[in-house]
Amino acid sequence: MKIFSGSSNKPLAEKLANHLNLQLSPIEIFVFPDGERRIRIETSVIEEDTVLVQPTASPVDQNYMELFFIADGLKRSGAKSITVVIPYLGYQRQDHVFRDGEAVSLEVIVNALQSVKIDKVIAFDFHTVKTPEIFSIPVTHLSALPLFAKSIREIGIENSVLVSPDMGGLRRIKIISEILGNIPWIATVKDRDLATGAIEIKNIEGELPANTKRAFIVDDMASSGGTLIESAKLLNKNGVDEVYAFVTHAIFSENAPKLLEESSIKKVFVTDTVFIPKEKVFSKLEVLSVAEMTANELSEK
Ligand code: R5P
Repeated sequence: MKIFSGSSNKPLAEKLANHLNLQLSPIEIFVFPDGERRIRIETSVIEEDTVLVQPTASPVDQNYMELFFIADGLKRSGAKSITVVIPYLGYQRQDHVFRDGEAVSLEVIVNALQSVKIDKVIAFDFHTVKTPEIFSIPVTHLSALPLFAKSIREIGIENSVLVSPDMGGLRRIKIISEILGNIPWIATVKDRDLATGAIEIKNIEGELPANTKRAFIVDDMASSGGTLIESAKLLNKNGVDEVYAFVTHAIFSENAPKLLEESSIKKVFVTDTVFIPKEKVFSKLEVLSVAEMTANELSEK
């Protein structure tokens, strides 16, 4: 097996290679002055099983183009198989037409991925459980929930409640509740203005158990941070002192790190599915790695 990395999350690719007792294989990514990229696979991959690591968070389009070109380079160089580890799959939230006239971006992306002859995709915590069904190639859908459950246990599950910040996350919250021995869960009800993106967390769905001291909000991603912050505010208003956030994908756009740091949330746990640059690191942030889990999946084959 040979493992390659695009430029979107080399630290994760290196960790993964390490777990597999491999070195990253060399690849040339040349950027022309106009921003176009030329990809060259610098090692023989003839009849090799190859793995490419390339999450597609910001810069989303650039990361996708790189992924397509590397996959094409691998195929043309004779790779036997190409497994693409896309820990975070960009454009997955636009998975259907929300308002007349909209494109279904996820479907376009899936078609493009399949057109470059990828054999398999490994990804973490899709926005919806139905995402793999859009692909006609095998997709392994892994989850950071077991990692989160471990940290939640360490913080303490007594007088605690799990919270889905919106109704879309109910499946996720039920799974983690089960991992933690069926501890109570609730949801906050979110409304997002599709035109402006403004978030309103309206009320709590379900019963907040009496004497709840601590809440763990669990979500798939944080972008502006608004969902977590507004959900935490509502929990505080309802008498919950300590609120922790657990999100798989640290998309962190706009001022999210600053807003999360200044919020009432005690600690924000994320994973390394997306590379977090130094300027987006803040003191309340804790990063858990998905490298070992990914390595286990790859070594099973
Ligand atoms: C949306 O339904 C997702 O599950 C997340 O809740 C959302 O993408 C978070 O976005 P933001 O951080 O901008 O509120």
